[in-house]
Amino acid sequence: MNRILKRRQLTPEIVLLEVTAPRVARRWKPGNFIIIRPTPESERIPLTIVDGDAGKGSITMVVQAIGKTTMQTAALREGDAIPDLAGPLGEPATVERVGHVLAVGGGVGVAELLPVAGAFRRAGNYVTAICGARNAGLRILQEGLAAATDETLWATDDGSAGFHGNVVELMQAWKPATPPGLIHAIGPIPMMRAVASLTREWGVRTYASLNPVMIDGTGMCGGCRVTVGGKVRFACVEGPEFDAHEVDFDELARRNRAYADKEKEAREAHPCRIGLG
Ligand code: FES
Repeated sequence: MNRILKRRQLTPEIVLLEVTAPRVARRWKPGNFIIIRPTPESERIPLTIVDGDAGKGSITMVVQAIGKTTMQTAALREGDAIPDLAGPLGEPATVERVGHVLAVGGGVGVAELLPVAGAFRRAGNYVTAICGARNAGLRILQEGLAAATDETLWATDDGSAGFHGNVVELMQAWKPATPPGLIHAIGPIPMMRAVASLTREWGVRTYASLNPVMIDGTGMCGGCRVTVGGKVRFACVEGPEFDAHEVDFDELARRNRAYADKEKEAREAHPCRIGLG
């Protein structure tokens, strides 16, 4: 069983969980993810692997409680067990030695950025991270990022910490005379779309780690279908990272909204289903 060894509340909505998963801990690479079911009856959800300790046989993941299943996951306590956990899944992030790398993350996407930024630095790059949050209190994994990068800059929507604005505005303000050699981006779809549009102008190769709806994580169900460069790709087995300049972000946003009503229904349904209120 995948026992929860540690639980830390990072923000009112975001929780960090360290879980026993020896086989995943031995094999994971930055950019990989797992698929879990927090209870035997739950649907499956993908979660990024933030860290792994092969010696201890554990992995660390971060979950944002925004839907029914993520809320169930975030409600788990130390000592609880996760009945189903499969991984590592997906392709690892593209990590090359290019000199200067910019890692851009928004919201809970910062959790994926941490191991990827660390991998770029270990590969010999100077790594700048630009991260965004709605306000100072919603910034996550600040200490880890400071240790994993050469510089980390924060943007907050309300200006309560760092740059006042979003990550794309901060990128525009930050842009050095010599642009970075490679950019890795992860976060909400509008953010990744705006990053891709800006870095297309800059002429800098950019990878986006996508977050489509996933069901089985094995390339069989088609739930995670995305269009990249006019071709259908499956994010769970061929991604989740793709060339950001080739991704059809409009389609991705449409597909991710397809189950919004069902998700709202599931979130709001009273467990006893007797129609209270
Ligand atoms: S999640 Fe089913 S094909 Fe990718």
